[in-house]
Amino acid sequence: MQSANSEAGDLLQLAEGAFAGERDPWANAANAAALVFESLPDVNWAGFYFLRGGELVVGPFQGRVACVRIALGAGVCGTAAANRETLIVPDVHAFPGHIACDAASNSEIVVPLVTQGRLIGVLDLDSPSLDRFTREDARLLEALAAKFVAACDWRLAGIDGL
Ligand code: SME
Repeated sequence: MQSANSEAGDLLQLAEGAFAGERDPWANAANAAALVFESLPDVNWAGFYFLRGGELVVGPFQGRVACVRIALGAGVCGTAAANRETLIVPDVHAFPGHIACDAASNSEIVVPLVTQGRLIGVLDLDSPSLDRFTREDARLLEALAAKFVAACDWRLAGIDGL
């Protein structure tokens, strides 16, 4: 079994390879969702919501069909987006306002995406296990999110304020 560190290094390296020379946000988001979903064990949903028309709208993801629109401040995604802070929720059923997309999800982590001081959206992962996500996962996903944001030309995306 790989150590957490080499797993982390692999994910970031694979992401760099996938983003290399590609500036399109949707292409890179699709590959990032696939890489995260494949690389991290015990995850049943991994993907993006982007800030469009004043709310979070679902973007590329891997997993079951998801709710399409989430208001800023609503649910785990909207809360992380509004606070611009990574949010780890060990038990989604205990989180006020949690939006249940897949009944199998029990824990969740949401990493906000920010460029030039502006909120772009969030990276969201769900797990069927309680308490699945650690601070180490948060650091890894924040590093991945930073690479993703830096790789893309956000003028192509139709995101609010960009
Ligand atoms: N559970 C999230 C909604 C998105 S899905 O998990 C894909 C939330 O409460 O914001």
